[in-house]
Order: sequence, then C-alpha cells, then structure tokens
Amino acid sequence: MNDNELRNLHLSSSAIILEKPPGPRSRELLQKQEHFESAAVSYPKAIPVAFAEGKGATLKDVDGNIYIDFFAGAGVVNIGHCNPEVVKAVREQMGKLTHNLDFPTPIRMELVDEILSVLPDSLRDIAKLLFVAPTGSDAVESAMKLAKFNTGRIGMISFEGAYHGMTAGAITLTANKSLKQSLMPMIPEVHFVPYAYCYRCPFGREYSNCALECAEYIEHVLEDPKSGVVDPAAIIIEAVQGEGGSLPAPDEFLIEVKRISAEYGVPLIVDEIQAGMGRTGKMWACQHSGITPDIMTISKGIGGGLPLSVLVFDEKLDTWEKGAHVGTFRGNVVAVAAGAATLRFMKKHKLWKHAARLGEDVFLPRLSEMQEEIEFIGDTRGKGLMLGVEFVKDKENKKPWSEFAKEVRKACYQRGLIVEIGGHFSNVVRFMPPLVITKELAEAGLNIFEEAVREVEKASKRAEFPAVASHSG
Ligand SMILES: Cc1ncc(COP(=O)(O)O)c(C=O)c1O
Repeated sequence: MNDNELRNLHLSSSAIILEKPPGPRSRELLQKQEHFESAAVSYPKAIPVAFAEGKGATLKDVDGNIYIDFFAGAGVVNIGHCNPEVVKAVREQMGKLTHNLDFPTPIRMELVDEILSVLPDSLRDIAKLLFVAPTGSDAVESAMKLAKFNTGRIGMISFEGAYHGMTAGAITLTANKSLKQSLMPMIPEVHFVPYAYCYRCPFGREYSNCALECAEYIEHVLEDPKSGVVDPAAIIIEAVQGEGGSLPAPDEFLIEVKRISAEYGVPLIVDEIQAGMGRTGKMWACQHSGITPDIMTISKGIGGGLPLSVLVFDEKLDTWEKGAHVGTFRGNVVAVAAGAATLRFMKKHKLWKHAARLGEDVFLPRLSEMQEEIEFIGDTRGKGLMLGVEFVKDKENKKPWSEFAKEVRKACYQRGLIVEIGGHFSNVVRFMPPLVITKELAEAGLNIFEEAVREVEKASKRAEFPAVASHSG
C-alpha cells in the first residue's frame, strides 16, 4: 500500500491543536469519570483527554484537537482506527447474528481460514485453533491451562520484563512486582529468568561478544537438579517484549530458547498478543528467528478494534475433552467478522511490509540521530513499528530517568502526539502506531517527539521537574 492509498484513512496529515489540551469538554468528561469510575482507571491519568473519534493513525478529542497516534490503543488498531472494511463487516454482521457461542458460522470458518493462511508454515500444518475469550489475558490463561493439562506439571518459566496480562494466572507470569506485591501469593511455581535485554545485560556482557548467557541460564535451571525450579509445564516468552520496553530479543536467543524447550520437553508458548499481527515487520514476531511455537497466543490486533483472542497450538496438545475450556463470549461472532476483515485487509495490503519499511527507513534512522545528539537518550531500538527510546540520566552509568520519559509523554500529548511509556524503570517512550500510518504522519509525529524531547532536555537543565529518578511508576 503506498502513501496515496493510505492517506484517505486518516483524519488529517498532521496534528492540529486548537487549544492546549485538555480542553473544557475533555476536562468535564475526565472529572465525571474520576468521580464515578474506579481509581484503577489508568491511561487518562497520564494522558488527560477524552477522545471523540479515531481514523487510521489519528484521533480527535471532544474539543476538536487532532492527535497523531503512536500508541494504537496499546497495539490494538494495527489496521487503523475505524478501518472502513472492518466497520462494514461489523455493520453487516450486527444485522445478521450477534451471539453464537461456539457453533460454526460461515464467518467463523472464514476467520479460521484467514488465520491458517497467515500462520508460520511450520505451525500451519499442525495447527489447532481455539477461540478463547475477549482479551489477551484470557488467551494467556488458556495457554497455561493447556500446557498444564498436557504435561501434568504446574510450574511455569517466564521472563524478567514480561507482561502477560492481569487475570490471576497471567499476572503471575507478569514481571512487574508493583502489580503483584499486595496480591501474594500468586499461583505457585512461576519462575522468572533473564530476558535478552542487551542494553542492560544482567550478565554484564555486550551483545557483540556474549555467549548467550541469558539463554544458557535457562538450560542451567532445567538441568541442575538443585536449581530449585520444578520441571515446568511451559516456558512463556514474547519474541519482542512490549511493556518490558520494546525489546527485540536477538534471533539467536530465541533459537536457543526453542532448542532448550524442545530438548527438555517443555512446551514453548510464544505470546504474540502485542508483537504479532504485523507489528514487527513480519506477521508474527517469532518469524524473524524462524522458531515454531508449541502454543501461540493472539489477541489485540486481530480483532481490528473489537475484543477477540485466539490460541493456536500443536495438534498434539489437543488432548482436551469436549467442554474442557468453554465460555460465553469465546469467538463472539461480531468480533469474528471484524477479525476476518482485519486479516483480509492486512493481507491485501501486506501491512507488515509497510511496517518493516517505515521502521527501518524512517523511525530507526531518525531515532539513532537523536540518540547521538541528545545526552539523555541511552538507547533506541525496535523492529518494524514496535520501537522504544530509553531515557537515562547519564549514558555512562545508564541510570534510568523515568521522570524525563513522563515529561516527554506529556509534552508530546500537548503538541498532538500520543505516546506511552514502559520498560523496567518506566523510562522508555514506546512507539507502536497503527501500521497504516503514512510516512508523512510518521515524520510529523517524529518532529513532535524531537521537539518535545528537546524542550524537556532544556527544562531538566533548568531543574523544572524532579531531577532525581525514582525508578517506578
Ligand atoms: C504480550 C502481552 N500479553 C498479554 C497481554 C494482556 O492482554 P489484555 O490486556 O488484552 O488482557 C498484553 C497486554 O498488553 C500483552 O502485551
């Protein structure tokens, strides 16, 4: 898809800020929300805005401001907000059948075909599908349950920096301690091992001359009878960590993890909920390394904006009895119609290729120029349109600077660019725009980002915001 074809999908080709947000109507809705909804509401606390409309890679707030969206609803709207083909498919389905449990329908079987057609070859030939439930966390719960059921084991190996969701099992596999501290105990025997976070290698190595100590450590844990880790039911991994700070693991690392999982008979769950659906420049993030998951979790992007999640797994693991894993909204037929339209659109326009090109040619070169010039950018990285900029107080000691990242997020939003932050120390500004973003919008967004960073850099030198990093939140 070229920029001309893409252009019509968006509200405008730049951000348009009529008055500094939040405007009066946004403030009114935010106040009402704060009054009536739980304190657990999160995003509007960092980005105080009420949206009215979304198209492509742009969002309009209730006061008429237009933003460039580098967040895509946490990596959901890969095919853009209100993609016209998805809207059409959903409208049609809404008039036909809206709820259907797990009976087959023509559209459900069409989605099955669409999913099969985009799976890695090695998985397609052996794949079984299960429509789990609306959200990503549900897919993770289901994957864990399937692995436990098949192996008869209860343990799990997850990775430092991992994010797998918020339900009871998924949160246990999530590495963020602050989310779990007050909920202990979690489900038992989940162990965390280091991820290939090369910028902050826990083994103190440089990627160029390391011996993949991080992967070898997993083997050590599995083979040492006194490692303290019971034989696990599965290893769960993101091929590119999302909330961990947009961290693409080197291919060799993933290949080693796969080898170890196969050698020790531990099923490998690859969580493609955020990194999948074209985001990293291939349909699935695991395809960069060529590894075949035993179980793959899919959600976010597949529903085209509607809640849909799917488990794909090796048919050998399909040992469940009828009814072993059912639920009211699994494969909701309207979401299924949205999913089929989403995949058709992605395939027709080979959106993953567009993501790969923009990432390589537009985002990464611009970010690395900024890294050279700006003393507080410690690292820039990413694959396709899953990118991260890590802020530090000092490039030498890499001391994380969370406040800087938060100020950048705010300065971006005030200028009309939506970005989120993540990373171990909340010091990584993350970019994951809809894959339909044009080069023009991408560059306009990067201009805003650079302006914001430079403004925050100046303010930090005038000590206009807390200069001492508290490494959390
Ligand atoms: C890799 C990964 N797995 C699982 C989840 C959980 O998905 P959900 O928020 O839809 O439950 C997320 C959400 O961000 C994710 O990024």
